[in-house]
Amino acid sequence: MSEAASFPVSTSRLRLRPHVSSDCTWLNRVYSRSDVARYLLDEPWTIEEAERHTTERLAKTDLDDDSGALALVIERDDEPIGDVTLWFTDRERRVTEIGWVLDPAVGGQGYAAEAVRAVLDLAFDHYQVHRVAAQMDGRNTGSAKLAARVGMRQEAHLRQDWWSKGEWTDTLIYATLGTDR
Ligand SMILES: CC(C)(COP(=O)(O)OP(=O)(O)OC[C@H]1O[C@@H](n2cnc3c(N)ncnc32)[C@H](O)[C@@H]1OP(=O)(O)O)[C@@H](O)C(=O)NCCC(=O)NCCS
Repeated sequence: MSEAASFPVSTSRLRLRPHVSSDCTWLNRVYSRSDVARYLLDEPWTIEEAERHTTERLAKTDLDDDSGALALVIERDDEPIGDVTLWFTDRERRVTEIGWVLDPAVGGQGYAAEAVRAVLDLAFDHYQVHRVAAQMDGRNTGSAKLAARVGMRQEAHLRQDWWSKGEWTDTLIYATLGTDR
């Protein structure tokens, strides 16, 4: 168990901070897009779903509190452009998973990688986690490239293990360990 991390976390071009209620507006704008939701588990969000998810995220302010999760908004020039969430899959052994979404309007500029690297630094340097994994649809090459770009190693390609949106889908598993650093 560690001290709570302090926010915002700054990188060269970005700031990362916990969610606030007004994030519902941009979350709804981004997550209601069919291109963003395509390889996510969720269908494109409705406004009601955006409100529910925003409320859930408000509680995810520290990996070591009751939520066991840290949901951070990525800001560029004080505007939200995406999010990165880190959560325990095994709290006792400090094993975690990470997820990410970037507004397509600002894709292809390295912002997601910059934000994810900062969260991996927090995970290993501050929270002393053992492992961070990322799972994605086997067709989600953008997400797989991001995982590789931040130094995660592909560990598995599971064939048709997941029934998603009316079809069997493959899953890629990427991970990095504290001992990799
Ligand atoms: C997955 C996702 C976050 C990746 O976003 P992205 O914009 O490709 O990733 P980055 O912001 O790190 O940008 C990387 C690209 O910017 C380029 N780039 C341009 N300028 C750069 C810079 N200054 N620094 C680093 N990279 C730069 C890189 O070369 C790379 O391009 P490439 O993919 O053609 O090689 C995004 O596609 C997304 O949100 N998808 C929908 C939601 C989703 O599926 N989430 C994952 C669920 S598992």
